[in-house]
Amino acid sequence: MVNFFELIEKRESCRDYDTRPVEKELLIRMVEAARLAPSACNSQPWRFTVVTGEKAGEVAACTQEMGMNKFTSDAPAFIVISEERARLSASIAGKVKDQQYAPIDIGLATAHLCLAATELGLSTCILGWFSEEKLKKLLGKTAGNRIRLVISVGYAGTDSIRPKKRKASEEILCFFE
Ligand SMILES: Cc1cc2nc3c(=O)[nH]c(=O)nc-3n(C[C@H](O)[C@H](O)[C@H](O)COP(=O)(O)O)c2cc1C
Repeated sequence: MVNFFELIEKRESCRDYDTRPVEKELLIRMVEAARLAPSACNSQPWRFTVVTGEKAGEVAACTQEMGMNKFTSDAPAFIVISEERARLSASIAGKVKDQQYAPIDIGLATAHLCLAATELGLSTCILGWFSEEKLKKLLGKTAGNRIRLVISVGYAGTDSIRPKKRKASEEILCFFE
C-alpha cells in the first residue's frame, strides 16, 4: 500500500504489457473505484464495459487505426467507458452555465479507475484514439450512445517507472490574492 502522492507518481501510461490475464475481481474493483467518483448533480453519466479473453483482441484492433496504439495487441483487458444520458438537473445546469459536465465527469471517473488499477498492481493506458464506429459494432447496445474512452489494462512488462514529463508549476499555477 502506497500513499496517495506516491500512487500518482507510480501511475503512468503502460505501453508494454505482460500477456498474463487480469483477475476479474480486480477489474471489478477498478470499476468500483470509478463508480464512487464525483459528478455534476451526482448524475453519474457513465457505463463501463469490461472486455477480456478473445474479445480483447477485437477491441485492440479498434484502437489501432492508422498504425496507432500497436501495443494494445498485448493488453489482456480493456474497459470501455461510455457516456450515458445525464440526469436532467445536470443537463439543465450545463445548458444554463454553458458547460459540458458529462465529459468532465467521465474524466474524473477515469482518474479513479486508473489510480485504483495502480493501487492493485495493474497498469493502464487511457486511449482516446479509437474507432467509435467499429467499437459500437462490436459491443452492440452495451456501448451506449457515445464511447468516450478506452482503457487498456494489464500487468506491466517492466517494473521501472519513467520520470514524469510535465509543465513546470510556475507555468500552470498562479495565485490571485
Ligand atoms: C484523453 C486521453 C487520451 C489519450 N489517448 C492515448 C492514446 O490513444 N494512445 C496512447 O498511447 N496514449 C494516450 N493517452 C495517454 C497520454 O499520452 C499520457 O497520459 C500522457 O502522455 C502523460 O503520460 P503518463 O500517462 O505516462 O503520465 C491519452 C491520455 C488521455 C488523458
